[in-house]
Amino acid sequence: MPVCQKLFWLEGATNKEMKGNFNHQLSESEIQPVMLLDLKRQYDTIKDEISEALKRVCDSGAFVLGPEVKLLEQNLSAYAQVDYSVACASGSDAILLALMAAQVGPGDEVIVPSFTFFATASAVTRLGARPVFADIDAVSFNIDPVDVKRKITHRTKAIIPVHLFGQMADMMSINEIAQSNRIVVVEDAAQSIGAELQGRRAGCWGDMGAFSFYPTKNLGGAGDGGLVTTRYEKFAQCLKLYHVHGMEPRYYHSVIGINSRLDSFQAAIINVKLKYLESWTTMRIQNARRYHEMFIDAGLDNKITLPETLPSRRHVWNQYTIRVKDDLRNNMKMSLTERKIGSEIYYPIGLHEQECFKYLGYSKTSLEETYNASREVLSLPIFPELTENEQRLVVKAIKDFVESREARRVLPAAVAKAA
Ligand SMILES: Cc1ncc(COP(=O)(O)O)c(C=O)c1O
Repeated sequence: MPVCQKLFWLEGATNKEMKGNFNHQLSESEIQPVMLLDLKRQYDTIKDEISEALKRVCDSGAFVLGPEVKLLEQNLSAYAQVDYSVACASGSDAILLALMAAQVGPGDEVIVPSFTFFATASAVTRLGARPVFADIDAVSFNIDPVDVKRKITHRTKAIIPVHLFGQMADMMSINEIAQSNRIVVVEDAAQSIGAELQGRRAGCWGDMGAFSFYPTKNLGGAGDGGLVTTRYEKFAQCLKLYHVHGMEPRYYHSVIGINSRLDSFQAAIINVKLKYLESWTTMRIQNARRYHEMFIDAGLDNKITLPETLPSRRHVWNQYTIRVKDDLRNNMKMSLTERKIGSEIYYPIGLHEQECFKYLGYSKTSLEETYNASREVLSLPIFPELTENEQRLVVKAIKDFVESREARRVLPAAVAKAA
């Protein structure tokens, strides 16, 4: 950027927090949009198969549960390396049903990360139990086993490690803690289908694993959907009972369940998409590698923190999440938005800071790594069909933002010196 433009940019800056106008040097025609997630690109490649699958469901007349759902449960059991799967209406319900099967109720505590989507903790409160928030590991964003251990009490009934952004939590440590305290482990694998630790998949490590088929997930349907995996028949039986109102036989209820059935349209779509999941995952991994190289080539790896894959893991990159320090994250996001480049903050606030969890009594900074992450994270486009050129545009936009910020810091001193 020419110096005169930089100066103009500086004059445009009002006070500490810039509000927009980060890219005024670009004309409207120079802006090339990059979507955070373009579902249509994927749909276009499997359109005919999806149409056939939906027609099959219409012709069968089986719209809820039925053969497609059964097939999905079999497919997912094989994929997640477990013996049993029970499909349900959403990932949120999958967590709820797993906790119900574990007999979580009033008086119990369930340890969950604070840095996660709301559903991880809301399922706990729905059953009258108390969520206990644990901090995260700063590199992987996943629950910190050391903090989990610290928070175990005689009331702890379950732990929900979340495999955030596509990478598995430290399940060896979590399982060890759980086994020595007779605690149930429910993996929240909503964002991590196909992720692996030591070659074993997400959903097969804990007592149960909860998956989501929400459209933004790596295996997304065309609406809501979820599924619970388990290696244990006793949990599978409970899950099967609880997701249909606790009804067995018909119109006889020994327990109070919920209505959480997967519809056959979703199952049919997901069965089609499952055939492509491995190749889409490979594309996500390639995109992550490419970002890594591009950010290093652009000299940005010491200006922003790049995401890492921890040893013995297969990261499936539901999100590519960088960290931006010095209160620059929000301005960087704004600058990308001006260039029509999609980005998102997962998550801007830890659950322990949420209004509805104030009664639990956490202070903002009581979970330090969660607090820091929520102020620094920014997720960039990483979907499988993202092109190399689009990734280049994302990296260039971040480079321009970082350089303009540096110019802003250096130039006033230089101008003062010259004067
Ligand atoms: C970590 C995590 N857990 C649970 C859920 C809930 O899944 P669903 O939206 O299918 O209810 C999500 C979905 O966003 C999630 O990201």
